[in-house]
Amino acid sequence: MQFTYSNPTTIFFGQGQIAAIKNAIPADKKVLMIYGGGSIKKNGVYEQTKTALDAHTWLEFSGVEPNPTKETLDKAVAIVKAENIDFILAVGGGSVIDGSKYVAAAAKYDGDGWDIMTRKHTVTDAVPLGAVLTLPATGSESNSGAVITKAETHDKLAFMTPHVHPRFAVMDPDVMKTLPEHQLLNGLVDAWVHTCEQYITRNTNAYVQDAYAEGLLRSLKTLGEQFASRDNDEWRANLMWSANQALNGLIGVGVPQDWATHMLGHEFTALWGVAHARSLAIVQPSLLRNQIEAKREKLEQMGKNVFFLGENATAEATIDAIEAFYHQLGVETHFSEYENTKADAVSAVVKQLDKHGMTALGENGAITLEASEKILESAIQ
Ligand code: NZQ
Ligand code: ZN
Repeated sequence: MQFTYSNPTTIFFGQGQIAAIKNAIPADKKVLMIYGGGSIKKNGVYEQTKTALDAHTWLEFSGVEPNPTKETLDKAVAIVKAENIDFILAVGGGSVIDGSKYVAAAAKYDGDGWDIMTRKHTVTDAVPLGAVLTLPATGSESNSGAVITKAETHDKLAFMTPHVHPRFAVMDPDVMKTLPEHQLLNGLVDAWVHTCEQYITRNTNAYVQDAYAEGLLRSLKTLGEQFASRDNDEWRANLMWSANQALNGLIGVGVPQDWATHMLGHEFTALWGVAHARSLAIVQPSLLRNQIEAKREKLEQMGKNVFFLGENATAEATIDAIEAFYHQLGVETHFSEYENTKADAVSAVVKQLDKHGMTALGENGAITLEASEKILESAIQ
């Protein structure tokens, strides 16, 4: 085990915490509030944020779409540059927070912001940012990653840099009350797969990380089982905190990580607009079956410690239990909404993976294009 770990995001968790922004952003900062399609105007979040920013000079930029595009975000970059903005406040879900991270980094660069995504430009500075989370799923509110799409070319790429790690995150579970059912399910599934990506790899006897990951998976499983009776403060708070902890970096320190489900899933979103979490549920069971030998030991451990399968905790039974968990939530584990033939759909994804250099994925680099093709042949029906 060898790692350096720092998570500098101050978390303001609980009801009424949006007011904390007032003191969390230095009084002399000129703020750009960035948000999405307007859900915050219907649930009081915009009003609460506005009140908290009373003493600040601030501007706003709206219209960041789900799976945020560089085309939209570049307009916000221009505002940050022209108005000498020195603090960004992201108010929304993962898309708004990721988009704000791109804006924060691109505003400190003279070239095309997309150079950050293609690694042509290495981020060395960014406008400081904070977040008000409205959809628990991605963990973006306290991590240093962001996923951005170039609509023009159907490229969906990720970047990570500590320079865009949010200074603070407001997490008030009350804001989840207006989330439609499918977005709550997406959040649950995304947090579940984030935990799996850092846990179902090869066994390294990292007792703390394993136990913490299993605790998160059990908590998410319980929230899934309680889904029908989810309309209460406890349920919302548990989902919000679980999703944050699943991808704030802690469970992944010093252990192998996979992320292949995410890389294949991103291509479904880029090609066909499949919602992020849905793309993961489509890929993951097929990927685990394809990689079962490499992951056998951890799958058995998960069967025992998460699904309580006892003597029957085989790797095969654990994958079946994961798939049954998705089905119980009404989440599909196959994809059939392609335009032409199944063969065309499989080859379209493989081509994208090739284009993006995704040719040796997984904790062992064992998911080659050939392996991806096999996984896709099972995931696409
Ligand atoms: O745009 P508005 O009007 O706000 O509506 C949003 C959006 O349509 C709506 N919404 C958000 N909060 C709401 C609400 N509606 C009612 N009440 C509320 N309180 O929900 C819709 C989806 O929002 P979005 O931000 O797109 O969802 P999510 O948080 O799932 O983010 C998905 C994005 O995050 C990326 C994904 O690839 C995708 O682009 N990811 C980011 C990661 C990271 N930074 O670490 C990791 C993840 O694996 C993921 O890849
Ligand atoms: Zn995800």
